[in-house]
Amino acid sequence: MKITLLGCGNLIQAIFLGCYQSKVLEDFEIYTYTPSKEKAKKLASKIEANFVNSLDNIPESEIFIFGFKPQNYQSALSDYQKIIPSGAEIWSVLAGIDLNRLENDFKDRKILRIMPSICAEINQSINLFFSNHLFSEEAFEKIFSSVGMNFKTVSEQSLEEMTAVTASGPALIYRFLESMKLNLIKQGVGERESEELIKYLLKGSADLLDFKKDDLSTLRSKVTSRGGMTFEALKSYENNHLDEITEGALRAAFLRSQEMKNE
Ligand SMILES: NC(=O)c1ccc[n+]([C@@H]2O[C@H](COP(=O)([O-])OP(=O)(O)OC[C@H]3O[C@@H](n4cnc5c(N)ncnc54)[C@H](OP(=O)(O)O)[C@@H]3O)[C@@H](O)[C@H]2O)c1
Repeated sequence: MKITLLGCGNLIQAIFLGCYQSKVLEDFEIYTYTPSKEKAKKLASKIEANFVNSLDNIPESEIFIFGFKPQNYQSALSDYQKIIPSGAEIWSVLAGIDLNRLENDFKDRKILRIMPSICAEINQSINLFFSNHLFSEEAFEKIFSSVGMNFKTVSEQSLEEMTAVTASGPALIYRFLESMKLNLIKQGVGERESEELIKYLLKGSADLLDFKKDDLSTLRSKVTSRGGMTFEALKSYENNHLDEITEGALRAAFLRSQEMKNE
């Protein structure tokens, strides 16, 4: 199966280096293309793929992966409309370019939208995906599992709403931890020590969840004695409507993603 990578930046490199290391590329013939050539050439040499030196030489492929930035989309459009044959699959990781637009611009091609998260850099991305068509799911699973876990959403709207959790999530968690760090600093703990303690707290909490195999609520109850200090802290969260604050933040992220489609 031939796959052409249109764009070989941070995300595509993370995915395909991961695939290469886990030896899943043996079933595919991979071609790499970027306008300034350098990144495509480098990636091709690292993963034993074929570097394509100009748009005219892009081969007819079963799958084309759009791995460039959304702001490159409009200028690339007419070239790719000519190059991508009807019946081919387009796998797009572009945020803000929706299926409606892709399907209008690329009629008779099968479009798959994929929304990975920044944790792709360490192979722990949540890859949301959705398509209105049948596509090469086995190939998708092989390739994208190399950078994390794949999750098929029930609709494109759901993919966009869930992105607020899966993609903005790391920054939201870091912001929450910054509040804890601030508390330590207010108690007189040094900035560097506070940072170290909070990072260790995050790691320990995540590892404990993994180790105990409990769900979040069960483990939280287990580590909270009724009437104790953690219990009081959690009561304060409830009284201050933590769920509503979180809901509001995630809604704001989603609404911004919708606005950005028109920018
Ligand atoms: N990074 C992430 O964790 C992440 C997570 C979710 C979604 N995404 C999405 O993934 C996409 C890529 O992000 P990135 O961080 O990997 O970007 P990046 O590192 O800036 O890479 C962009 C790549 O696109 C290439 N490019 C530009 N115009 C092109 C064209 N017309 N045809 C083919 N390639 C073209 C660039 O080529 P040159 O080298 O020639 O400039 C470069 O290799 C974005 O749409 C982003 O929304 C990224």
